[in-house]
Amino acid sequence: VASRMEQRQVPTSSVTVTPGSAEAAPSFYEVRIGPGLLRDISDWLLQLVPARRYAVIADSNTAPLYGASLVLELTTAGLPSDLLEFPAGEASKTRHFWADLSDRMLLAQHGRDSAVLALGGGVTGDLAGFVAATYMRGLPYVQLPTSLLAMIDSSVGGKTGVDTPAGKNLIGSFHQPIVVVADVETLRTLPERELRAGAAEAIKHGAIADEAYFEWLRDSATEILQLAPASIGDLIRRSVELKAAVVGADEREHGLRKILNFGHTVGHAIEALSGFRLLHGEAIGMGMIVEGLIGESLGITAAGTTDRLREALALFGLPITVPSTFSSEGVLAATRTDKKARSGVIEYSLIERIGTASRGGGSYGTPVEDATVAMALETARD
Ligand SMILES: NC(=O)c1ccc[n+]([C@@H]2O[C@H](COP(=O)([O-])OP(=O)(O)OC[C@H]3O[C@@H](n4cnc5c(N)ncnc54)[C@H](O)[C@@H]3O)[C@@H](O)[C@H]2O)c1
Ligand SMILES: [Zn+2]
Repeated sequence: VASRMEQRQVPTSSVTVTPGSAEAAPSFYEVRIGPGLLRDISDWLLQLVPARRYAVIADSNTAPLYGASLVLELTTAGLPSDLLEFPAGEASKTRHFWADLSDRMLLAQHGRDSAVLALGGGVTGDLAGFVAATYMRGLPYVQLPTSLLAMIDSSVGGKTGVDTPAGKNLIGSFHQPIVVVADVETLRTLPERELRAGAAEAIKHGAIADEAYFEWLRDSATEILQLAPASIGDLIRRSVELKAAVVGADEREHGLRKILNFGHTVGHAIEALSGFRLLHGEAIGMGMIVEGLIGESLGITAAGTTDRLREALALFGLPITVPSTFSSEGVLAATRTDKKARSGVIEYSLIERIGTASRGGGSYGTPVEDATVAMALETARD
């Protein structure tokens, strides 16, 4: 494998993720990043993830684009595999499709000696990961992320699960993949709006943990959006390193992991209020602006930080104002339904400045009054 990779102009890089101590084995896994990695899958799959058969789970976009050829490649190489497709979209991340996919695996007589390959965006990763977590008490699985968001965020950390009418991601399990393989060439078919939205999470990583990365992102926006191989590879590697460092230090979101929620308390509320017409990253960008303003008004966040967030988001073509359709009352009410809002006191994950998350007195959360949130929302209007 190594020799084939070296021939490429952009080398494959890899990041090791070490989940916290409460995690079950394996104690670490690798995130491989590079162009064309899906084409080489039969070179390493059997060695890394030995199984009698493989269930490739993909959505109705990634199945025809990459699933069919992947299954053909594996089968030709003597690795029996089936393609299981489900309809693309968040609306499929449900117990219904978890059951449907599990039943189809049972029907196809997959056993304990099978493995799951999750081929797609974050919806596929969360859903297929949850199928793998529960099928015959747990099968090994591989994340093959094909959206930018999945490559830098959802495929790292081991959270799997489905949505319910009561809220997103409420039923699920921690189940770590054996390996994550991000073939950056797949991003060529990702709709540009999805690419921009994925970049919002990278901006968040810079904002909470690495100022130099934040500035590099800002200065490299054009190359990144054009998918210049070196730039997009560097972005994925650095974001994965940052997320892995946080997740490795705090596996179950008791403390440090909360810093990843920057922009997400208000962002999730706006995302839900939009009826999911806004993409997650678009809503999170607005959320970072509002939460930046909240921090500035409390004296926790350095003055001028929100302007820098706006500048970076704008360079990636992301919205930088909160439309008036999202009323302050509506957003405040929606933050209360967030699963992170326990006992009515909403804790925000704020930053001190670009590159430094606020420790929030040690708990990494800062309780914020409704009036402060409302004022920040009004300031964030166009
Ligand atoms: N597990 C975690 O820690 C975690 C973290 C963040 C987000 N998430 C979850 O991730 C999900 C969002 O992920 P997403 O933004 O990738 O959504 P998604 O999986 O729905 O993908 C977005 C769209 O892009 C399409 N697509 C993906 N890759 C493509 C490609 N290469 N070419 C063409 N089309 C492609 C998909 O079919 C879909 O239509 C949410 O459900 C969210 O809850 C999970
Ligand atoms: Zn997010």
